[in-house]
Amino acid sequence: MSSTSPRPRSFWDDAVVYQLYVRSFADSDGDGVGDLGGVIGRLEHIAGLGADAIWLNPCYPSPQADHGYDIADYHGVNPEYGSLETFDRLVAEAHDRGLRILMDLVPNHCSDRHPWFAAALAAGPGSPERARFVFRDGRGDEPPNNWQSVFGGPAWTRVTEADGTPGQWYLHLFTREQPDFDWRNPQVLAYFDDVLRFWFDRGVDGFRIDVCHGLVKDAALRDWDPAEGSYNAYSWNRPEVHDIFRRWHALAAGYGPERDLLLVGEVWVPDPADLDRYLRPDELHQAFSFDLLVQPWEARALRAAIGRATARTAVHGAPAAWTLANHDVHRAVTRYGIVRPEPAPASNDAFAALMRPRGEVDADLGERRARAALLLVLALPGSVFLYQGEELGLPEVQDLPDEARQDPVFHRTGGREKGRDGCRVPLPWTADAPAFGFGTGTPWLPQPAWFARYAADVQEKDDKSTLHLYRRAVALRRARGLGRPGPVEWLETGEDAVLAFRRGALVCAVNTGSTPFTAPAAWGEVVLGSAAADGVPGDAAAWFVSEPDGE
Ligand code: NOJ
Repeated sequence: MSSTSPRPRSFWDDAVVYQLYVRSFADSDGDGVGDLGGVIGRLEHIAGLGADAIWLNPCYPSPQADHGYDIADYHGVNPEYGSLETFDRLVAEAHDRGLRILMDLVPNHCSDRHPWFAAALAAGPGSPERARFVFRDGRGDEPPNNWQSVFGGPAWTRVTEADGTPGQWYLHLFTREQPDFDWRNPQVLAYFDDVLRFWFDRGVDGFRIDVCHGLVKDAALRDWDPAEGSYNAYSWNRPEVHDIFRRWHALAAGYGPERDLLLVGEVWVPDPADLDRYLRPDELHQAFSFDLLVQPWEARALRAAIGRATARTAVHGAPAAWTLANHDVHRAVTRYGIVRPEPAPASNDAFAALMRPRGEVDADLGERRARAALLLVLALPGSVFLYQGEELGLPEVQDLPDEARQDPVFHRTGGREKGRDGCRVPLPWTADAPAFGFGTGTPWLPQPAWFARYAADVQEKDDKSTLHLYRRAVALRRARGLGRPGPVEWLETGEDAVLAFRRGALVCAVNTGSTPFTAPAAWGEVVLGSAAADGVPGDAAAWFVSEPDGE
């Protein structure tokens, strides 16, 4: 918390949050799909990493057109994953281990199987049922405007009316199975108040909120000039979205100080400074620092992004939410391991090229850099969101056969964009078990043979593995209070490729170049290094402490 903020300490000031993609974490019933029973069975793994909380990707009933981001019932659990009873058990067992549970809230759109959408189709043009979504008449046989879906193709789909004639169009910024709500309609606001309360009352500790920047659209739904770029400022980042976050902030605060509840936003904005408005003291508590995630492996660029985020915290007191990966981006090992970049395909998604860059990858180099990046983010003030598989140094699975791919991004772009399946392949737990210990069934996405070397049991036996590095780093971060509010004091290194900063008695140095860096003696001894070699060799990071006894 900044010295200017009067709010009490919260778990999310400095939490390490494990992002758990339920479908791909662990399968307890042999159907090839991860589930909540699988999560319960492996809670010790997450607690053993030293995490403070778990963010569950959406686990509501859903036809899975966008793997859970198309919700048919906001008050239940996907039967493939378990039941409300399993969910309650998970919350209780997680809490017993000191792990908080964050849900994923998806308010921009629901599934086309949600009862409201079925009612809207049946009720016809001009009805109150249609007014919960964005239905419009077309321009002749053309859609109401020229907006494009993030996932490829137009953002409008035409419906057939009850009398069999081609009818109105509805807006979907993502797939056609994800109709956008009209957030100007008070019924939508009231509905989501109820959703938030339903889960808070069940004991969840907060929400990661999907597509915060998209909820409210331009009132006149004006055409977007594509010459302005693919970030459509009529559909994204409209000023009216902030009223919604104020409302939810107040709703969460209504639970009183005894409930430490978090609202953390997924907010993609072209100018990182735009995040400020989402983080005003009565809006979101945090927003992911994607600005850092999209930076190349260059000290200067990384330092600048960290500087922007910490400057923002100084303004409004919201701690940064650092992240290096999630279920939408290429894994950090692969992004940092690109040795020969290739041009990105054209995309409707303004951030696709940054999230999923292409090129020839050196996975070993990428893993060395991702290990260093882990030490970088874990030394910073704020919370750190780490995606499942990062503890194993998993690369992106880029060699998935096209027939196996399920991501609508792949299918809606006719395969031009490969999409996000490669970071969602079920985890390898045991090198020589069927499905690498994920479960007894055939995994919903095929695991490559090379997963064996990354399996958790292999890494358990190797003291130098990424798994052990991760645990040590999280433990040391906690012991030294590295995540706590406080300054990031930049240190001169004399090398463009090396960034270094002080957090109390600890100095974190990251060498993005290939020449070993000799640290000044005043920084003290290395207490943790990302590389096998001593000190700060190329593509490595180390933590130095000048008074090791203070550990
Ligand atoms: C962002 C989510 O992270 C992504 O997985 C999803 O496809 C879109 N929002 C649409 O809900």
